[in-house]
Amino acid sequence: VIQYQTSLEGIRADQLEGFFVGWPNPPTAATHLEILKRATHVVLAMDGSSVVGFVTAISDGILCAYIPLLEVLPTHQHQGIGSELMRRMLEMLHEIYMIDLLCDPDLQAFYSKVGMEESTGMLVRNFTRQAGI
Ligand SMILES: CC(C)(COP(=O)(O)OP(=O)(O)OC[C@H]1O[C@@H](n2cnc3c(N)ncnc32)[C@H](O)[C@@H]1OP(=O)(O)O)[C@@H](O)C(=O)NCCC(=O)NCCS
Repeated sequence: VIQYQTSLEGIRADQLEGFFVGWPNPPTAATHLEILKRATHVVLAMDGSSVVGFVTAISDGILCAYIPLLEVLPTHQHQGIGSELMRRMLEMLHEIYMIDLLCDPDLQAFYSKVGMEESTGMLVRNFTRQAGI
């Protein structure tokens, strides 16, 4: 049974193994934990003591929120966990005017199902900083 939580209390880096699949230069588990701590909102999906999915948001708390990271471990995908993480994050942000994220076109149907609309955007990627701190 998957449990969802918004607190990082007691979460350690060694519970965060296996994320950033396919990233050429992924953050370490310790950096991942720091990313979770610095986000303004986080939802974790827990299978026992292991984190098997997470979503973060960064918000000014008034008008704007951005959802930079959503990932479910490959072993736990296709069970509705990603959708549930998004539903819970959007519920936490329901008083915010603009809630944005970027995704590839093949994921637009997934985000549509949790109530998001298609849009267009612009970005910068500094690949030398992909692993973070
Ligand atoms: C996207 C992601 C979070 C979905 O998590 P999940 O727990 O499998 O999601 P759900 O079980 O709620 O929904 C799965 C559905 O999402 C859609 N979906 C997921 N990944 C997809 C992809 N790469 N392309 C197209 N559709 C996709 C499918 O419709 C899928 O349905 P299926 O289970 O019948 O195949 C997960 O695939 C993941 O971590 N991917 C790698 C990281 C990533 O791409 N994150 C999003 C960045 S914008």
